[in-house]
Amino acid sequence: MGQPLINLRNITKSFDGTMVLDDLNLSVKENAFVTLLGPSGCGKTTTLRIIGGFERPDQGQVIFDGQDITNLPPNKRQLNTVFQKYALFTHMSISENIAFGLKIKNKPKAYIKDKIKYALKLVNLDGYENRTVDSLSGGQQQRIAIARAIVNEPRVLLLDEPLGALDLKLRQDMQYELIRLKNELGITFIYVTHDQEEALTMSDTIVVMNQGYIQQMGSPENIYNEPENAFVADFIGESNIVPGIMVRDELVEIFNARFVCVDKGFGTNAPVDVVIRPEDIDLVAPEQGTLTGVVTHLIFKGVHYEMEVTSPDGFEWLVHSTDMFPVGQMVGIHVDPFDIQIMNKPASEDEEAVGINE
Ligand SMILES: Nc1ncnc2c1ncn2[C@@H]1O[C@H](COP(=O)(O)OP(=O)(O)OP(=O)(O)O)[C@@H](O)[C@H]1O
Ligand SMILES: [Mg+2]
Repeated sequence: MGQPLINLRNITKSFDGTMVLDDLNLSVKENAFVTLLGPSGCGKTTTLRIIGGFERPDQGQVIFDGQDITNLPPNKRQLNTVFQKYALFTHMSISENIAFGLKIKNKPKAYIKDKIKYALKLVNLDGYENRTVDSLSGGQQQRIAIARAIVNEPRVLLLDEPLGALDLKLRQDMQYELIRLKNELGITFIYVTHDQEEALTMSDTIVVMNQGYIQQMGSPENIYNEPENAFVADFIGESNIVPGIMVRDELVEIFNARFVCVDKGFGTNAPVDVVIRPEDIDLVAPEQGTLTGVVTHLIFKGVHYEMEVTSPDGFEWLVHSTDMFPVGQMVGIHVDPFDIQIMNKPASEDEEAVGINE
């Protein structure tokens, strides 16, 4: 593919002397589903508002389709936003809400009517034209907010935690709705969430942010399986993160036991962080394990058992398995080489600062 549709170049933004975005660089391809993922306050909404034109960066440029649009007002940009708090106009009917932007643009009546019908169909609310906002459920109101944004035929839709107010079941339904909608419209989505599962389900590219920095950008599989640092590993799912020594290529020592892995290029006898997902730990007979431990906790989670296995040095391993081992049982820990992920330890205090700080 050619050049990206959107390019953020060296974006810096402070509020009241506090740096919120620090030299942020991000490019988004046409037709992508990109998700900005990170904890509260990391700068997701600010990034989206800068793309949308609601906020001006202190430094840096916003490039859209090769043009510098940094100083262009929102209504001149080929994008539309569904805000974190979707403000529908409660004194207007559903069709008036959807028509709002088109009326401002002085579109003909028949055109607007067609567009409303089309948009309501897309969000599965056929025939809701004359309902009042108050008579709709939260999920339906959310759909109207999305319909209102798509009637303007944007090339990019910016969605800021659009499902945040919905309960789990409805949120999952709406996730599939949004994926379908994106495919039908064939446009670019930039989506903001702090929900890692939502990001993994929906996106083709995830941008993990923390404290105004991009920590890692990649496909869901890449982010989940190959986290580049402890922050990403911890944020993107439950993980065992243990200190280790990279003995040599493809061999790592954890608590004096040697595990074969597939990683290379970390040097010899180098301190590293090792990430092992709970579902990648195989519990076996003690004599068959690379390490041993005692089961100290057991919870049934529906699909799997969640167990805590404490090894002699006191480390508590989180294990997910469909096999159940009772509390008090001695077990062996086995991990396939492929399921061991090696990460460099943070090299400086600066890097430490953007790591885990809870
Ligand atoms: N207009 C503003 N004035 C002052 N500070 C602001 C303003 N907007 C954002 N901030 C601050 O910038 C930081 C990043 O805010 P932002 O809204 O981008 O976070 P976020 O990642 O969207 O968080 P959340 O998940 O809670 O929505 C926060 O510390 C916030 O208080
Ligand atoms: Mg936000």
